[in-house]
Amino acid sequence: MESKPTVAVITGASSGIGEGVAWRLARKPGTRLVLVARREDRLRELARRLPCETTWIAADLTEPDAPGRLLAHVQEHHPPINLLVNNAGAAWRASFGDGGYENVRRTMEINFDAVLRVTETFLPMLRSTAPSSIVNIASTAGRISRPGAGAYSASKYALIGWNDSLHLEELPNGVHVGLVLPGFIKTEGFPADELTAKFATRWMVSDVSKAAEAVYETAILGKAERYVPRPYALIAVMKILAPGLVRKILSGGAGKAMTTKTGADAAEQAEKTRT
Ligand SMILES: NC(=O)c1ccc[n+]([C@@H]2O[C@H](COP(=O)([O-])OP(=O)(O)OC[C@H]3O[C@@H](n4cnc5c(N)ncnc54)[C@H](OP(=O)(O)O)[C@@H]3O)[C@@H](O)[C@H]2O)c1
Repeated sequence: MESKPTVAVITGASSGIGEGVAWRLARKPGTRLVLVARREDRLRELARRLPCETTWIAADLTEPDAPGRLLAHVQEHHPPINLLVNNAGAAWRASFGDGGYENVRRTMEINFDAVLRVTETFLPMLRSTAPSSIVNIASTAGRISRPGAGAYSASKYALIGWNDSLHLEELPNGVHVGLVLPGFIKTEGFPADELTAKFATRWMVSDVSKAAEAVYETAILGKAERYVPRPYALIAVMKILAPGLVRKILSGGAGKAMTTKTGADAAEQAEKTRT
């Protein structure tokens, strides 16, 4: 993937990690990008500023016709893609007792179902352009579950399970399937305010550029799995080697460090606050 021009679809490119990935990929000569998210104004503005050939398509990826619309857009405006970055995602914090199945359903719909539907749509194209890549943005929450984040963790655990299988299945087809597991990255949807507010926990929060670099290493340099920042890999090890200790630490309230908003929801709330 390193030597050939990249033609990529990036979902969730209107903010945060997805936007960072667009900027990182744009530095690679010959890159062409397709930006996807619901907020068209954001995508248009980003496409205007990026130093590479870029188009955008506004789509709610939970809508039944979204994957087909993305495919039609690529077929009309670009050569076949050789990279799909499944980044769009959201979290609504609630205990199961409060949020119930409905909160799990809406979280799975965007973080899991939409990823599979988009991937299924582009897989034949990605096989035809092999060597090609798919990068799935999971989370360290797909390795450990915190209170109030069960729906989010369930969606990311599921994503990782599917990713690991797809990685092996697509090896013979030349489609590299890589996984990125961010810890806390300060973004619109995941502001991590409670962690950045305290000196003792500030170090736990990383930035978008590091996540974007991890996506680049996975997509272009062929890494199979990358934690961001890297030491978060210890969490997965501790979960296996010392599950009791991990439970003890997490029951101390670490689950409160997560927000309830997606990018659009955050914007909507900010709008409501202003008016
Ligand atoms: N930041 C962290 O701490 C962290 C940690 C672990 C994993 N992650 C994962 O990283 C990914 C990116 O998150 P982020 O931190 O960059 O948050 P973000 O700034 O809120 O970005 C989320 C992106 O997903 C898009 N999106 C959400 N729902 C969508 C839908 N129904 N259809 C289409 N696009 C949708 C949003 O765009 P629109 O609102 O314009 O549609 C936005 O571009 C997510 O998968 C998240 O789970 C983040």
